[in-house]
Amino acid sequence: MTSTDTEISTAVRQLRDLSLSAARAAALRAATQLGLADVITDTPVSLADLAAEVQADPNALRRLLRALTWQGVFAELEDGTYAHTEQSLLLREGTPDSLKDIVLWSTEPWTFELWPLLADSVRTGKAAFPKLHGDDFFGYLRTEAPESAATMDRAMTQSSHLSMQAVVDGLDLSQAVKVVDVCGGRGHLIAALMTRNPKIQGVLFDTQEALDNADRRLHEGGELAARASLVAGDIRESIPVEADVYVLKNILEWNDENAVAVIRSVVAAAPPNARVVVIGNVVDASPEVTFTTSVDLMLLLNVGGGRRTMKEFRTLIEKGGLHVESAQPVDAYLALLECTVAS
Ligand SMILES: C[S@@+](CC[C@H](N)C(=O)[O-])C[C@H]1O[C@@H](n2cnc3c(N)ncnc32)[C@H](O)[C@@H]1O
Repeated sequence: MTSTDTEISTAVRQLRDLSLSAARAAALRAATQLGLADVITDTPVSLADLAAEVQADPNALRRLLRALTWQGVFAELEDGTYAHTEQSLLLREGTPDSLKDIVLWSTEPWTFELWPLLADSVRTGKAAFPKLHGDDFFGYLRTEAPESAATMDRAMTQSSHLSMQAVVDGLDLSQAVKVVDVCGGRGHLIAALMTRNPKIQGVLFDTQEALDNADRRLHEGGELAARASLVAGDIRESIPVEADVYVLKNILEWNDENAVAVIRSVVAAAPPNARVVVIGNVVDASPEVTFTTSVDLMLLLNVGGGRRTMKEFRTLIEKGGLHVESAQPVDAYLALLECTVAS
């Protein structure tokens, strides 16, 4: 096949575009930080009003919006005012389908520190994060970058929210008595499972900082408090909870060594015949290849881990001492693996 001039110019255009894709991520972050999506309502807004409202330089704001409207985030109307698009509506604060915190989490300052170190990680196959801040990524967030940790918690809540209903529908707890969500973040999943299954007791296990910000329904005085316990600890050491169901959702993306250590903590805590339910993103069938492969590379950089195929998941889980009884999709992204402690 020979290359025509048009094909060459398309290749050049695409490659130059790719090489500056960090600018697009930065523009999206800036618009989100400025809160533009909450200023534009049903009525289009002029540049001057927008600039005044978010306290921005009008010319620089116009340039930011030019970069974004080109991508379909906000629209510039013929009279020069700005209106929402389907994408920009998702940047609003507090709406049920908001992706605001997911956008912020994906573009946190530490991500921009890590991307230039990708070649190093590809050479070593290991995380680059320890070179910058030590080898405990989550510990760093909680102690050194608490705003980023709070963004993580909100982003996890947003992304869990997107799949929550499917998980609650797909997880049969009719025979369960006590269910622990291991590293369950702010506890929205365990709260939803307890609401759906009014007889179960629910335990949220995570760091103290995560528990402090947990779903109010689980705290003293909350509507689920009588059936709920909040247990703080370090998953790499032990899980001081005996339950008949252990839920592990999106926590095995760490490097193999840490992921296996997590599974071994569960195996050590679980009584005989306990169910262990592993829920995670599998790359095999991802409908968003660019997003999935990008997350995979970020996980390599920060925790030395990554997204796994179903086969890799099974191998890892069995290495940790669990037996995979069955596997089924929860939705287009998530799989649910029913496991038992291997005898
Ligand atoms: C990727 S989030 C997953 C949260 C939740 N399972 C979900 O699906 O939304 C990882 C969680 O692990 C917790 N975590 C990280 N390191 C931990 C540790 N050493 N001990 C206990 N929890 C930890 C974090 O606080 C965070 O809530």
